[in-house]
Amino acid sequence: MDKKMMISYLKSRGFHLRRTTSDLNLDHLNSVFVAVGFPRRDPEKIKLALENTNSLLWIEHKKTQKPVAFARATGDGVFNAIIWDVVVDPSFQGIGLGKAIMERLVEELLEKGIVNIALYSEPRVLGFYRPLGFVADPDGIRGMVYSRKQRKKK
Ligand SMILES: CC(C)(COP(=O)(O)OP(=O)(O)OC[C@H]1O[C@@H](n2cnc3c(N)ncnc32)[C@H](O)[C@@H]1OP(=O)(O)O)[C@@H](O)C(=O)NCCC(=O)NCCS
Repeated sequence: MDKKMMISYLKSRGFHLRRTTSDLNLDHLNSVFVAVGFPRRDPEKIKLALENTNSLLWIEHKKTQKPVAFARATGDGVFNAIIWDVVVDPSFQGIGLGKAIMERLVEELLEKGIVNIALYSEPRVLGFYRPLGFVADPDGIRGMVYSRKQRKKK
């Protein structure tokens, strides 16, 4: 589905694609994070993280004005971006909102000329990201995360 069609499809179903944090209620967003199993985070820290985020999209349920889908990307604005916090409210999963928001976010990054787009995926969600163009371990390249063992308290 192309961009215009997707936006009018969402509208016709009572949803509104948003690109800024104005009108985004962070407590409601945090509730969506918690509902899908993310740890509850300090709203002030979420606010700061969103201020430092280059690209952000969310879908508003017009009836309640609440966020029902969200995704964001951080990066250097030129070469690299990493996508974070892809979530859809459990009551609204399975109707295409996750796909819509991811397609728009990737499109926005590509329009900026950013081609190195990465994300972390839980194993059970790999099948969601693959049709959107993401591959695991491309050319054998493996992601690594810093994971220092907890130091014993004295
Ligand atoms: C993963 C998630 C974002 C998907 O959003 P969604 O709105 O439910 O997905 P959509 O309805 O847009 O589905 C798009 C397509 O992906 C498929 N899909 C959705 N979730 C999938 C999964 N976990 N595994 C494989 N395929 C999946 C759908 O069947 C659909 O296929 P189709 O295009 O052939 O019909 C959402 O389920 C979610 O928020 N999950 C909990 C949080 C999470 O795990 N986030 C990712 C962190 S890594």
